Amino acid sequence: MQEISDQFLVLAIETSCDETAAAVVADGTTVLSSVVSSQVDLHARYGGVVPEIASRAHVELLTPAVAQALVESGLEGHQLDAVAATVGPGLAGALLVGISAAKAYALAWKLPFIGVNHMEAHLYACFLEEPDLKPPLVVLLVSGGHTMLVAMDDHGRYRLMGTTVDDAVGEAFDKVARVMGLGYPGGPAIDRAALTGDPTAVRFPRAMPEGYDFSFSGLKTAVIRYVRENPDTPVADVAASFQAAVVDVLIAKSKRAVEETGATGLCLGGGVAANSLLRERVLDLCTAQDLRCFLPSRSMCTDNAAMVAAAAWWRYRADGATSMEVGAQPNLRLV
Ligand code: KG4
Ligand code: ZN
Repeated sequence: MQEISDQFLVLAIETSCDETAAAVVADGTTVLSSVVSSQVDLHARYGGVVPEIASRAHVELLTPAVAQALVESGLEGHQLDAVAATVGPGLAGALLVGISAAKAYALAWKLPFIGVNHMEAHLYACFLEEPDLKPPLVVLLVSGGHTMLVAMDDHGRYRLMGTTVDDAVGEAFDKVARVMGLGYPGGPAIDRAALTGDPTAVRFPRAMPEGYDFSFSGLKTAVIRYVRENPDTPVADVAASFQAAVVDVLIAKSKRAVEETGATGLCLGGGVAANSLLRERVLDLCTAQDLRCFLPSRSMCTDNAAMVAAAAWWRYRADGATSMEVGAQPNLRLV
């Protein structure tokens, strides 16, 4: 284990998808600045992220984001202890922009470079806001590209209990929202629409594949077919019924996972962790099971660089600096 001071200052960069983000975090827990330049408006007209547009936008937005993160932290580059960047999973071209910039800053300021797994960063959003959280934990990571139920036995020691066999949960939200005419990104739009809807209006299927795996493509297809055949059903009712079906499955599997592993806590991470119903139901589950519950604040659920800095701090303690040879790893796995 690497000996590092309490005030270890990391500048982190996140460019794995459509958010250009930079943050400065002290000792893995104190956020001195966190800047997120969203590209949502650039991609909205295409109904999803266009990789080439994302890469170009990262090139334009990254330097100002880093400059702003440094100014807001009150620090200059040479006062930092390390520079980190997400190295995967994500879009290859988008990742490359952040990695190249981070390596250049690290070389210029003579600092170590730390490569971070994006999903580990989502997981560390929990530790960023709740530093005394202790494994063993079960972590439900739900984003636009991933759906994973992970047993975290200790820092850096994960077991993948289950994953999606088809669509990621955020992807299902986005596709269903598009068909319902709610625009992109679909998750927040469905969440909002569902607030005034009846979750029992339509009984959509709850797929429960073997073990801890998930499947959302049947549900997605059922909702799309229902919307085409029943155009007069209020959008709010369809949104609430779809959301209830997704959340029922996520909660049922998470409940079994904490029971089986004997975990003392349940953490939520990833963009879909911002979902109101999911947050409410996770809280209910933890209260009923007497578990520690951790729900990152909504801004820490969606992509940001503060969570990358938190994961980088733990990685550096365990493994030291990352080789400058390490490049973009679009399919990087957590376990
Ligand atoms: O983690 P994230 O920002 O990017 C990826 O790493 O994929 O997750 C983005 C995903 C999108 O699919 C978006 O629709 C979904 O998170 N999302 C939500 C909510 N906010 C964002 N899904 C459901 N309810 C929300 N409130
Ligand atoms: Zn993400």
